[in-house]
Amino acid sequence: MPALGYTYDDHLPADFSAQSLRNDVLTGLTAPRKWLPPKWFYDKVGSELFEDITALQEYYPTRTERTILADSATGIVRAGQSRTLIELGSGSSEKTRLLLDAMIAQPAEPAEPHADHPVDPRGKVASYVALDVSEDALRSACAGLVSSYPRLRVGALRADFTHHLELLPKGERRMVAFLGSTIGNFEPAERAAFLRALRGELGDHDQFLLGADLVKSPDVLIPAYDDTGGVTAAFNLNVLDVLNHSLRADFDRSTFEHVVVWDAENEWIEMRLRATQDMVVHLSDLALDVHFDRGEEVRTEISAKFRRDRLIPELETAGFVARGWWTDPREWFSLSLWGTA
Ligand SMILES: C[S@@+](CC[C@H](N)C(=O)[O-])C[C@H]1O[C@@H](n2cnc3c(N)ncnc32)[C@H](O)[C@@H]1O
Repeated sequence: MPALGYTYDDHLPADFSAQSLRNDVLTGLTAPRKWLPPKWFYDKVGSELFEDITALQEYYPTRTERTILADSATGIVRAGQSRTLIELGSGSSEKTRLLLDAMIAQPAEPAEPHADHPVDPRGKVASYVALDVSEDALRSACAGLVSSYPRLRVGALRADFTHHLELLPKGERRMVAFLGSTIGNFEPAERAAFLRALRGELGDHDQFLLGADLVKSPDVLIPAYDDTGGVTAAFNLNVLDVLNHSLRADFDRSTFEHVVVWDAENEWIEMRLRATQDMVVHLSDLALDVHFDRGEEVRTEISAKFRRDRLIPELETAGFVARGWWTDPREWFSLSLWGTA
């Protein structure tokens, strides 16, 4: 096998993924209000569809976060003083390149080895570890980074950030990035548990960089999740194909429609799949029949939107200390940097 140029660690062996998918589907599709967790969107097709979404005119989050990074990556990296970037839910790692450029452009390392900046005998000046559930996304992102950044040490970690934070590579002055407002996919209690668990893994000199989408008019929010070209609908419906392939289910995706709702009370977008007829779906691997009434919905994702004056206390409650806040002129998206002491 040719050298990959990056390390690849898989902590989601087939039996873990299968078991975890079975548990989630059994719990979610037998609940009184059916739901599925969003991580199952991201097979090869789902990861590619997500990349298509990020390029849509209606989908402002990626574009806006990229603009903030383009303006502020140097300041963010300078504030963090880190040469190790670990990214949770890294996907294509495209926006991350702006952080890597800034990290690599930082002043040269001290000539003598130092606990915070050990001299790499291969002349590498910085490290990047991408963590994602999607093997395809990890491999394609890391291969691209290796060819673009010869002085970067690159690692791929296939793991679940809701289960495996203890697997984050150890080191001093790490910056853990969580971009794309993926944090919005957690319900509030899960989000608090995730932030506490992450804080527990970080040391005194580590930093957390968070990309969070901000509350704005539903006139902007809804089209971002319900584009006229139907790309987000295809992404949403793809989860049924994932269940068909992985659990030998017999969902007919033409009998479901993509639904997007703005929940003004919780300030989150909900993506749902609505049954367009009464039906029974059989999931062979679970020996399960699931009945759907016409009009019944499965919630497939929430995407919470944030306000600065609520987000800051949430992170402080988890034990983080605010280090910086960056936004765009319309205040549609935020990047915030957090220390631990
Ligand atoms: C909304 S996309 C964001 C991708 C990228 N960070 C960006 O900003 O464009 C979410 C990413 O998180 C990954 N993901 C979702 N749930 C995950 C989990 N529980 N553990 C690890 N990765 C997960 C998906 O595979 C996907 O690449």
